[in-house]
Amino acid sequence: QPARAVDLVEEESGAPGEEQRRWEEARLGAASLKFGARDAASQEPKYQLVLEEEETIEFVRATQLQGDEEPSAPPTSTQAQQKESIQAVRRSLPVFPFREELLAAIANHQVLIIEGETGSGKTTQIPQYLFEEGYTNKGMKIACTQPRRVAAMSVAARVAREMGVKLGNEVGYSIRFEDCTSERTVLRYMTDGMLLREFLSEPDLASYSVVMVDEAHERTLHTDILFGLIKDVARFRPELKVLVASATMDTARFSTFFDDAPVFRIPGRRFPVDIFYTKAPEADYLEACVVSVLQIHVTQPPGDILVFLTGQEEIEAACEMLQDRCRRLGSKIRELLVLPIYANLPSDMQARIFQPTPPGARKVVVATNIAETSLTIEGIIYVLDPGFCKQKSYNPRTGMESLTVTPCSKASANQRAGRAGRVAAGKCFRLYTAWAYQHELEETTVPEIQRTSLGNVVLLLKSLGIHDLMHFDFLDPPPYETLLLALEQLYALGALNHLGELTTSGRKMAELPVDPMLSKMILASEKYSCSEEILTVAAMLSVNNSIFYRPKDKVVHADNARVNFFLPGGDHLVLLNVYTQWAESGYSSQWCYENFVQFRSMRRARDVREQLEGLLERVEVGLSSCQGDYIRVRKAITAGYFYHTARLTRSGYRTVKQQQTVFIHPNSSLFEQQPRWLLYHELVLTTKEFMRQVLEIESSWLLEVAPHYYKAKELEDPHAKKMPKKIGKTREELG
Ligand code: CDP
Ligand code: MG
Repeated sequence: QPARAVDLVEEESGAPGEEQRRWEEARLGAASLKFGARDAASQEPKYQLVLEEEETIEFVRATQLQGDEEPSAPPTSTQAQQKESIQAVRRSLPVFPFREELLAAIANHQVLIIEGETGSGKTTQIPQYLFEEGYTNKGMKIACTQPRRVAAMSVAARVAREMGVKLGNEVGYSIRFEDCTSERTVLRYMTDGMLLREFLSEPDLASYSVVMVDEAHERTLHTDILFGLIKDVARFRPELKVLVASATMDTARFSTFFDDAPVFRIPGRRFPVDIFYTKAPEADYLEACVVSVLQIHVTQPPGDILVFLTGQEEIEAACEMLQDRCRRLGSKIRELLVLPIYANLPSDMQARIFQPTPPGARKVVVATNIAETSLTIEGIIYVLDPGFCKQKSYNPRTGMESLTVTPCSKASANQRAGRAGRVAAGKCFRLYTAWAYQHELEETTVPEIQRTSLGNVVLLLKSLGIHDLMHFDFLDPPPYETLLLALEQLYALGALNHLGELTTSGRKMAELPVDPMLSKMILASEKYSCSEEILTVAAMLSVNNSIFYRPKDKVVHADNARVNFFLPGGDHLVLLNVYTQWAESGYSSQWCYENFVQFRSMRRARDVREQLEGLLERVEVGLSSCQGDYIRVRKAITAGYFYHTARLTRSGYRTVKQQQTVFIHPNSSLFEQQPRWLLYHELVLTTKEFMRQVLEIESSWLLEVAPHYYKAKELEDPHAKKMPKKIGKTREELG
């Protein structure tokens, strides 16, 4: 019986049987939320026979995205291109004819907005032009920010290659927990968050001659904050050059914000793209993706395929399904190279997506939003767009932040489609209906600053001495309540005093490149003498969700292996347990393999842990171990996360302060146990608000770690049995 239902793995640690089904339903539910559903359950098994063309997904051609160039045949030989010297490739980019004009504009204006189609060479070329022009003389540096870590890494690698230097010498990158720069590094690609942190050590960015805020249209929180800070610095550093680079969106807004700075347009080079929609909504977009890729592969002329999915778990599931089906089809189809790309993918794997496709084969790149504008992959002719992305949302009333799979915006959908028309006329297959595009997609994506918590950023701004946040120069201001809540939370965490001023503890928290709650947890480990364990927990939490590995053919073994790590107390201790055992194995990859643990994630956790350990001295926390007294570890975690607490009521879990209904994630070690009080690391909304990484706590700890935040009364337990207490009292009375 061919399986129509997608074997959806929510994450490597996907739970077995019943939970699996639940996840499927959850995901199907999410998909049908907006686009209308076909009943998944009643659906006949189909798609199995793609090649017999029994049942395939029907697309209708609806519109064409106008290109500026006449359609031409797809490039015939990518190998020939390869042989061309790297300089010739540089000269072929759309930005190249404008080199002199652009440099002149930069010389003449302090702030310049640069607009250009994705792939025109903004990111890789402009910093090189500036380098060649002497902007890095006297050891001055050029910063180029990227919203995504993968983009920063891969672009830096590309530029180093173009310049013929070793990555980390003249050209380098710097992302959180990973610094690939040296004294010599003058071209610095970095995440926007890292440049923000640079302000802490160098508030006027004195060692930089140029700051290029790239991918500005993404409007990430950090980019938005950078705008305000850089605008300010530019006022008292007239020699600093500021470049704001963006895809063809929003440039007028940027210009207005920077006192009507001129906009430099790099004319696009884009071929027309035919857009196809499905006739009917697809209930399961992951399955539909897999089917469509194979459909394109067997029916369409040469050219690579780019698929947009929402995250690592989904991408891995899709890649696995694709590989699976290709294997089964064997020599009936031509070779299909399946390549994933997402934020945590190790760099050697990332590099593979840029390698040219061997003749006769076809490449399919399964990517997150990162391929929308930050990365350009040569040779893409087909784009497959299910129309979703993972988005953070924040409710300032409840203080709850969640990550949700939501329909992407029209602007996003159009950017995605545009990726098909870079080298030749292309096609974009949208896995939703034309009606849905018209009526259900938002025009543009709401800037992140308006849908995220601001604790981190507020702490940073306070450390920079910016007190009046209400009057900070925001491109789009965050909701007033969100700012207020951030201040309140920082006060509760002890980072700010009642006047809103930074405390000593707050200054230390800002030193650590992690969220305030995590910082607080690390600081609290001093008091509970368990910094060794807490560092591990912190490191493991930061590589969250990709610890366990669950191959399809060994589901039972994998689940057993996972359960073997369970410790009473909850998921944070499970993470600690995994790491400790791995360390005892001598950080062995064989050990990981045997225990169904992802070696790569562990290696990253080890890196993160080392870096955090290196910062402990600066925040005056000594190394100490709890020697197996896990209560201390749990209390230290509670000291950071007392905001994220829930209690079991008659109607399930409710958050303690806001009384929101929440659920334990089925993958949690506490899923079966349902302890009365718990804290969670994060909430993830699919069909329900799921708490991910939960820890059992005692309500009395909340009074111990946050007496200013909790009152004994609200921690009283209406369901607690009254009897034992009475008996106790009687005994006392009896003396
Ligand atoms: O920033 P923008 O989108 O304008 O273009 P870019 O990222 O500078 O890309 C210019 C060229 O470099 C494109 O043809 C890319 O294919 C190529 N590139 C690459 O081969 N490898 C990378 N890691 C990044 C860019
Ligand atoms: Mg770019």
